Amino acid sequence: MPAGVNSPVRAFGAVGGEPVLIARAKGAHLWDVDGNRYLDYMGSWGPMILGHAHPAVVKAVKTAVERGTSYGASTEAEIELAGTIRKAIPSMEMLRLVSSGTEAVMSALRLARGYTGRDLILKFNGCYHGHADSMLVKAGSGAATFGISGSAGVPADVAGKTLIAEYNDFDAVRTIFARHDDKIAAVIVEPVAGNMGVVFPASGFLEGLRKLCDSSGALLIFDEVITGFRLRYGGYQDIISVRPDLTTLGKIIGGGLPVGAYGGSKEIMQQVAPLGPVYQAGTLSGNPLAVAAGLAALRQLAKKGVYEKLEKKTRRLISGIRGAGLKAELPLRINQVGSMFTVFFADSEVMDFPSAARADMDVFSAYFQGMLAKGIYLPPSGYEANFVSLAHSEADIDKTVGTVAKVLDSI
Ligand SMILES: Cc1ncc(COP(=O)(O)O)c(C=O)c1O
Repeated sequence: MPAGVNSPVRAFGAVGGEPVLIARAKGAHLWDVDGNRYLDYMGSWGPMILGHAHPAVVKAVKTAVERGTSYGASTEAEIELAGTIRKAIPSMEMLRLVSSGTEAVMSALRLARGYTGRDLILKFNGCYHGHADSMLVKAGSGAATFGISGSAGVPADVAGKTLIAEYNDFDAVRTIFARHDDKIAAVIVEPVAGNMGVVFPASGFLEGLRKLCDSSGALLIFDEVITGFRLRYGGYQDIISVRPDLTTLGKIIGGGLPVGAYGGSKEIMQQVAPLGPVYQAGTLSGNPLAVAAGLAALRQLAKKGVYEKLEKKTRRLISGIRGAGLKAELPLRINQVGSMFTVFFADSEVMDFPSAARADMDVFSAYFQGMLAKGIYLPPSGYEANFVSLAHSEADIDKTVGTVAKVLDSI
């Protein structure tokens, strides 16, 4: 396998050292093949909001596997998962299940182009939307970690169909629309960015995108692959009351198994085959094991008080880390929303990719290695979001704060 891994950031290229081989996971912890235990803030890059091997998810998958692993035909469980998502995210009046976030985004972009009859897509510097060709332009975390802004192998005329603006720079978006208005099929955005580290949308930014798309006839796509069911039961779109035309989901809705989804209004989604001319298909789409895991996870998340609990825990953690940073006299900025956050070793606010890139990645590497050596597993790049799960206990949070204090003190 290239670099010994099946996804680039796993190689620890940004932070140095040997990647850890994981043997198992339970609750908030990972164990490596040498038996070392780590408190996990990577959460498999977002899906593990319940913690690892949650009993309800394990039970659902065990029951499903006894019934067969794939049929290539429809099931009641798929209909239930689609219905659960539709109820939680009303803008997704009709949706399709796929097997990854990349696939969801790729399909949504094709649909936007098919529906509008236009070619151009506007995305934001530092947002990652999976590895479809047209999205590997200024693609945030994974690519940024390795100092590349795009990918070889993407034809220039494909990359040329992707327009770029800085996140939160509404004036730049307006200028791009002024130049290309009737050629833009869609604007795709992470409504809270998670792939240049966590970055919030500035006040009015997403609302402004909605208005520009409305007046131009372009579709607004919210990529909620990270934020979907992470910040509330449903989408971030319902927190801010901006309704996108299309939404993409992944990660949490699969409970740690491969599921993605894309959806929107019936009018748009009826353009998808076999109802319409936009083709999209998948041998394993709606896979029974993955759907069972996703449904079990969403049932847990639907319980009262879950998100409040997560947020409270995360706030306590952040305030401890902030205190440790002050004591160690290290400049740091922490962007946190709900149970996701990023510690930037930076002395000014981080509100777009250039400001994220000003953070000190050498200090981050030292921080990462120090934490790992003391049994705390962070995402191995300073451009990533950390995730707190329901399985993190108060004692875990205290332990983390104590460890951060020691590690920052030694940098
Ligand atoms: C916002 C966003 N969109 C899309 C993707 C791609 O999802 P996947 O890795 O499941 O293909 C990711 C993955 O991290 C993501 O963060």
